[in-house]
Amino acid sequence: MLFTKGSIKKTVKTLGSVLTKKYKDKEVIVLSLLDGSFVFAADLVRQIKGDVDVRFLKIKSYEGTESSGSLVVARDFDFRQLDNKHVLIVDDILDTGLTLNTLCKQIRNETEILSLATCVLLDKQVNRTNNFEADYVGFKVQNEFVVGYGLDYNGKYRNLPFIGVLKEKVYR
Ligand code: XMP
Repeated sequence: MLFTKGSIKKTVKTLGSVLTKKYKDKEVIVLSLLDGSFVFAADLVRQIKGDVDVRFLKIKSYEGTESSGSLVVARDFDFRQLDNKHVLIVDDILDTGLTLNTLCKQIRNETEILSLATCVLLDKQVNRTNNFEADYVGFKVQNEFVVGYGLDYNGKYRNLPFIGVLKEKVYR
């Protein structure tokens, strides 16, 4: 067990009130990255008071417990829907930085947005392969493979209400 249901709830509430202030009197598109952020995003958007428009983007960079090193973005997502909007990307965990770094560059290149920010529940930091930093972070974590609260190991454990470290014997 790394983070209990209670501590996650508290942190999400804090993030929600910070984001409520940031987007006061503005309409924001929350772009939830699937699959991993669906639980976090569902709780987070309910803590942001104001005009929130929620969209989903399917992305994949992990195979098992290792980053594949390349990013797969769903082709049917039209980035131009973000034009003239404040965009907040929400992801479950920032690890190598590949996902958010690539996606932010793509959004900046292909759209005309009003602003772009990123919010992650967890930040692993140690594996970063670029200098990407998220604007809003829930918890910092060590270099361990974590599951629960939307985070999975090959599709499993997403339904755990807490976040835990996956025992090596499960995947070795
Ligand atoms: P990058 O390396 O692109 O990683 O920053 C972001 C994506 O990698 C997945 N990821 C994990 N998933 N437990 C998981 O269940 C982990 O410990 C973990 N580390 C990275 C996740 O999908 C995230 O969006």
